[in-house]
Amino acid sequence: MTTVQDIRERTGDDPITMLTAYDAPTARIVDEAGVDAILVGDSMGNAVMGYDSTLPVTMDDVASRTGAVARGVEDALVVADMPFLSYGADEADAVENAGRLVRDAGASAVKLECGPHTVDLTERLVNLGIPVMAHLGLTPQRVNQLGGYRRQATTREAAADLRDLAEAHQDAGAFALVLEHVPANVAERVTDALSIPTIGIGAGGGTDGQVLVITDVLGLSERAPPFAETFGDVASEMERAVAGYRDAVESGGFPADEHEHVADDLDEF
Ligand code: KIV
Ligand code: NA
Repeated sequence: MTTVQDIRERTGDDPITMLTAYDAPTARIVDEAGVDAILVGDSMGNAVMGYDSTLPVTMDDVASRTGAVARGVEDALVVADMPFLSYGADEADAVENAGRLVRDAGASAVKLECGPHTVDLTERLVNLGIPVMAHLGLTPQRVNQLGGYRRQATTREAAADLRDLAEAHQDAGAFALVLEHVPANVAERVTDALSIPTIGIGAGGGTDGQVLVITDVLGLSERAPPFAETFGDVASEMERAVAGYRDAVESGGFPADEHEHVADDLDEF
């Protein structure tokens, strides 16, 4: 089992690999491939639920899919994303929601899109025994505030703010930090400033690890962000299998003799 302690120590030359997954069979494949951590991301909204942002994703959605992923995994660390408005408004609600994902659904840690308002919450959750992965840079739950999915920390002031917030979350007890869609040199400086590992997405090669959305990696996304890379063409394979099934049924090739059972003495009744 990969633990949060294993991840916390992985700074430097042995990159952490993390991918999202939202269901048990995909999680099993990711786990068996030796990926270190699986994020049950609220990217499920775009990736598999047909929404055009992460905002409609609910606690029930994340809890249900975290359960599925946790049941499919043996080795990888399972991290569950806290969805929009499930934290940040009321601390008791946030604790209860994080608890649902760890106590009931089987995650080993939660991830929070961070800001000045999540420093105290991070400390509270960590003190209660709920490990926290922080997330800074582009935080898609703020898409309406940000005016789009733009690169963040593009000025000296914003980069310094990002570094200070990263340090504040480290000091509050976060075990790792996701850095999304920031300049590579900013990610590298933040990585140097921290003793916990950084895991980048659209943040260049200077972080301690990388994370991508599984549907982008598999070639199952309608559109992937420019910083993602597609490593396969699973959509074509699914199309081939589905068309094969349709053709076989239409042509009478499926079901074949080996798929059917004829009961004795039941030709007439
Ligand atoms: O929801 C998600 O998949 C994420 C990653 C992109 C870091 O937050
Ligand atoms: Na997310």
